[in-house]
Amino acid sequence: MTIKEALAWATSILKKSCERPQYEAELLLAYCLKVERVYLVTHADKEIDIKEYENLIERRSHYEPYEYIVGEASFYDIHLSVEKGVLIPRPETEILIDLVADIIKKEQIRHIAEIGVGSGAISIVLARKFPDLECVATDISEEAIAVAQLNINKYKLGKRITLRKSHLLEEVSESVQLVVSNPPYIAEDYLLEPHIIDYEPKEALIGGEQGDELLKEIILDVKARGIRWLACEMGYDQRESLQAFVNEVGVKSIQFYRDLAGLNRGFVIEFDKGEQ
Ligand SMILES: C[S@@+](CC[C@H](N)C(=O)[O-])C[C@H]1O[C@@H](n2cnc3c(N)ncnc32)[C@H](O)[C@@H]1O
Repeated sequence: MTIKEALAWATSILKKSCERPQYEAELLLAYCLKVERVYLVTHADKEIDIKEYENLIERRSHYEPYEYIVGEASFYDIHLSVEKGVLIPRPETEILIDLVADIIKKEQIRHIAEIGVGSGAISIVLARKFPDLECVATDISEEAIAVAQLNINKYKLGKRITLRKSHLLEEVSESVQLVVSNPPYIAEDYLLEPHIIDYEPKEALIGGEQGDELLKEIILDVKARGIRWLACEMGYDQRESLQAFVNEVGVKSIQFYRDLAGLNRGFVIEFDKGEQ
């Protein structure tokens, strides 16, 4: 089969499972042949063996995310190894990073913690932005910790990002000035699309019956430790319940932010200094 024919065949198969079937057919063939995408255009009539490609297309046609198939995800300005068992970092999390970066700069923060490190996306991007920053990052998943360590090593950040298997901050005794987290925040009965629910880890997605239970626990934990800043991603429908919760708990301020689709997507809390 020629490259052109293989792409036409794969595109027709992927129509069911992909929003951009031709684009993904090209990406997967380029990955399979270990060439740049442009090669597929310049060598359209070249004969190829499509055995391995058939296998990749079969996986993608069953909704397996592209990132798990190729073992890599692009995020911010880096490429992270990912595998089943670890959440694929999402573009909206880049907004959280930019907000945290503003606080780190303004407050000259040197020590932070991340809850739920996953692939390492947030801690790695922040550590690359701030050469003096030190971060303790936790996760309950051993698979996530192993993948995060791989990515941390890849970017030579082992001296500044310390990983710890821990529920929230339980195993963190270091003093930190800010906590950042993109925790699981989806409600148990929320209907997720097959490419998410069949492949990505539930402990990275589901935050409890309502979805915001872990977020509330994080708010209480960070306040109890006397840490001044907390920045979290959240679900688009959780602003009201979290506003009511912080009104009860007592914080100096809470600013909610939206994602590029205009949906509520997270918050930054400043706690009163010394208040515990
Ligand atoms: C939504 S993922 C975020 C991963 C990564 N930070 C990112 O933004 O791509 C949430 C992560 O929190 C971890 N997690 C879930 N419950 C936790 C807990 N109680 N304590 C620490 N980490 C937890 C999950 O294993 C998962 O890696």
